[in-house]
Amino acid sequence: MADFLGSLGFLKRVFSPSLLLILTHVLLFLHPGKANSVIGPEEVILAHVEHEVEFLCQLSQPLNAEHMEILWFRGQASDVVHLYQDGQELFERQMVQFQNRTKLFTDAIVDGSVTLQLYGVVPSDEGPYGCRFHSDNFSGSAIWMLEVAGLGSDPHISLEGYKEGGIQLRCSSTGWYPKPKAQWRDHRGQCLSPESEAIFQDVQGLFHLETSVVAGGTAPSNVSCSIQNPLLDQKKEFVLHIADAFLPGASPWRSAFLGTLAAAAPLLLLVLAALAWVRARTQVERGVAMLSKQLQEQRRAEEEQRGRLTWQLEKLLMQLDSRRAEGQADPHLDREEKFP
Ligand SMILES: *[C@@H]1O[C@H](CO)[C@@H](O)[C@H](O)[C@H]1NC(C)=O
Ligand SMILES: *[C@@H]1O[C@H](CO)[C@@H](O)[C@H](O)[C@H]1NC(C)=O
Repeated sequence: MADFLGSLGFLKRVFSPSLLLILTHVLLFLHPGKANSVIGPEEVILAHVEHEVEFLCQLSQPLNAEHMEILWFRGQASDVVHLYQDGQELFERQMVQFQNRTKLFTDAIVDGSVTLQLYGVVPSDEGPYGCRFHSDNFSGSAIWMLEVAGLGSDPHISLEGYKEGGIQLRCSSTGWYPKPKAQWRDHRGQCLSPESEAIFQDVQGLFHLETSVVAGGTAPSNVSCSIQNPLLDQKKEFVLHIADAFLPGASPWRSAFLGTLAAAAPLLLLVLAALAWVRARTQVERGVAMLSKQLQEQRRAEEEQRGRLTWQLEKLLMQLDSRRAEGQADPHLDREEKFP
């Protein structure tokens, strides 16, 4: 019994209040993770133009944040993206460019987790962001970087006409960010140097590109125009097959064909423009055969034929146009298509 009391006294001496305090501090020091902090999204997040992006901010340890001030800011705390204070959202200090573009999700706020959605991303949203939790006994923040990327429209190819012993092609596309890279290639995959290239930025900060090349000599060839987004490492490509008949090289059939066409120069432009829109080679060849036959007939019966041809061409153009429109909704480029 005496021994027992003795050991109690010993324990009391060892675990004196001051020693307990020291031990607590040592333990906290050894486990700094125990102190609460704010965790933001990843260091760098990527948002797509016109889409939305989420900024999830949470406390490292679940803690009710309903009565904390939670601020999302851009670059510095005074540039307010979104502010939550006293249990509600305050919009007075929100920067103009974020007005009507943010939505706060507070479903998990009792666990210290909140998400801000930013809608309709534009290139100018790019930059550093942060979020800050603040209360009487806690203050912490996290920062990250927002990168913006835009994959532009499918390239549009047009045939401009014969030039310098080849065919002049123009390729254009809009809605890229950051600045895209354009590349012309021949059927062997070799780069063709562009004849001209123009890139400009619209008011939204999106890049528009237009490039032209003189392609083809005497051999039939496929020419592709590809436009690449350096940030996404994605590209959009359009391959055009230039049929033998259209190359400026010597070919009896071609001469006859062109001779026929000379009589109908405005129609030639329409035919060339039509071809530029076509991706399905078989359809092109069927179309060309049909048109060339019609053009020969036209030479015989000039005026009365013209009206009918124009109508047929318009119909073909409309078909091609709608094919093209369908093609744009589909991410797979340059696929084979069959007309109904
Ligand atoms: C936000 O929406 C309100 C109400 O619809 C409108 O009055 C205001 O002009 C909008 N602000 C911006 C910057 O679009
Ligand atoms: C051109 O492309 C078509 C299909 O688009 C293919 O069948 C043909 O072999 C290609 N020609 C050359 C010379 O690469």
